Amino acid sequence: MPSPDSKKNIFTEPPKFDYDESAPIIDAEEFFKVIRSRRSVRVYSNDPVPESVMRRALDAALLAPNSSNLQCWEFYWVKNPEKKAKLVEACLSQSAAKTAQELVVAVARTSTWNWARKEMLKLFDSNEKGGSKVPAPARAYYEKLVPYVYCQGPLGIWGLVKKGIVWSVGWFRVIPREPTSKTHLKIWAVKTTALACENLMLALRAQGFDSCPMEGYDSARVRRILNLSCDAVPVMVISAGKRAKGGIYGPQIRFPSEHFIKEV
Ligand SMILES: Cc1cc2nc3c(=O)[nH]c(=O)nc-3n(C[C@H](O)[C@H](O)[C@H](O)COP(=O)(O)O)c2cc1C
Repeated sequence: MPSPDSKKNIFTEPPKFDYDESAPIIDAEEFFKVIRSRRSVRVYSNDPVPESVMRRALDAALLAPNSSNLQCWEFYWVKNPEKKAKLVEACLSQSAAKTAQELVVAVARTSTWNWARKEMLKLFDSNEKGGSKVPAPARAYYEKLVPYVYCQGPLGIWGLVKKGIVWSVGWFRVIPREPTSKTHLKIWAVKTTALACENLMLALRAQGFDSCPMEGYDSARVRRILNLSCDAVPVMVISAGKRAKGGIYGPQIRFPSEHFIKEV
């Protein structure tokens, strides 16, 4: 029997928790220094990136905010020399890949949400066994809402049905409209993965190293090198190393902010 609590809307009615996490004091200037000094580096020096730096940066990637906490990302840190050489070639042999010490392929996954929601439910079970109460709306979210929202069904048929439901109901009330297709699901997974990519690059910078995000690659070859399943979307290849002299091609160019920041 679902508890009456599980009918509560987790978006509008915050569940009751004992949990608290205070915000630490941050050195804002150091943070902005990391942001400002991150540049796309096209030529790296021969300095290796210590394994601990890479691991810390990859772990930081996994701390990025992500949709429904379903963590629909994968990061392939390509270490095998043969695979690495093929990946450089798949990246059109661009120097940002060729001179890189390390290469990571960020991949968005559109089918791992079901595994992740089950993991979340398992975690809830073990928390409850350990005596911490899991709010019923949180459980209902992963038991019912997540499959409803993310499942598109065979040939996307359930997605089409949802599109019809959303279209009809949307006339009368506010309703989340997507994802109702495999394309929507790709956008969903890519958004989350791209946020993690930024974390990875900033974490490299914060540790004194550099990066370059790349989408200039042959995606079919990248898929083949990594043996990716068909639900996987390569989002970008991120190279890492230390900037060489002349490895940044010029000052950072940004158009005036009024083109982009709209106060409405
Ligand atoms: C999704 C994405 C794909 C990119 N692809 C490439 C690429 O294939 N090769 C490259 O040299 N730079 C690539 N870049 C880097 C951009 O050219 C760079 O971010 C932009 O020119 C701004 O420079 P900055 O990063 O130094 O601020 C890419 C950046 C992003 C976000």
